[in-house]
Amino acid sequence: MLHRILVVHGPNLNMLGLREPEIYGSLTLDELNRSLETLARSLNMALTTFQANGEGELVTRIQQARSDGTTWLVINAGAYTHTSVAIRDALAAIDRPFIEVHLSNVHAREPFRHHSYLSDLARGVIAGLGAMSYEAALHFIARQPTDLEAVA
Ligand code: DQA
Repeated sequence: MLHRILVVHGPNLNMLGLREPEIYGSLTLDELNRSLETLARSLNMALTTFQANGEGELVTRIQQARSDGTTWLVINAGAYTHTSVAIRDALAAIDRPFIEVHLSNVHAREPFRHHSYLSDLARGVIAGLGAMSYEAALHFIARQPTDLEAVA
């Protein structure tokens, strides 16, 4: 079985490229998603992306990952990282490993960005590398065994 990765982008990430480019860079969300799809293909993995501004929409999509064949999630929950017990609970409920990513180094920014409701559940946390935060997550996942390899 191939890894099937769901990349979840939270609120305001639809504004990438326009939004505070000095912090988040000039890449648009479409460009980021396309480059991640290309990288995933080259690593022999399937990748789906999802962005929503609403907490409930994000929770619903994360819940679906339990039954749609997703093997790993990569999530940038945006500001909900620092506020959302609901997104934490959804990630805990689906029993799938995930990597928390951030474009910016949240620890070098305002104190309210230093706490994450997700990090202690994550397999790893990558922050501050821009688009490479997501790419590093994909490279890591590509080296993890799939179910078939795990039982072989
Ligand atoms: C972010 C960091 C968050 O603090 C912020 O609210 C975002 C983006 C990042 O990718 O650096 O929306 O998750």
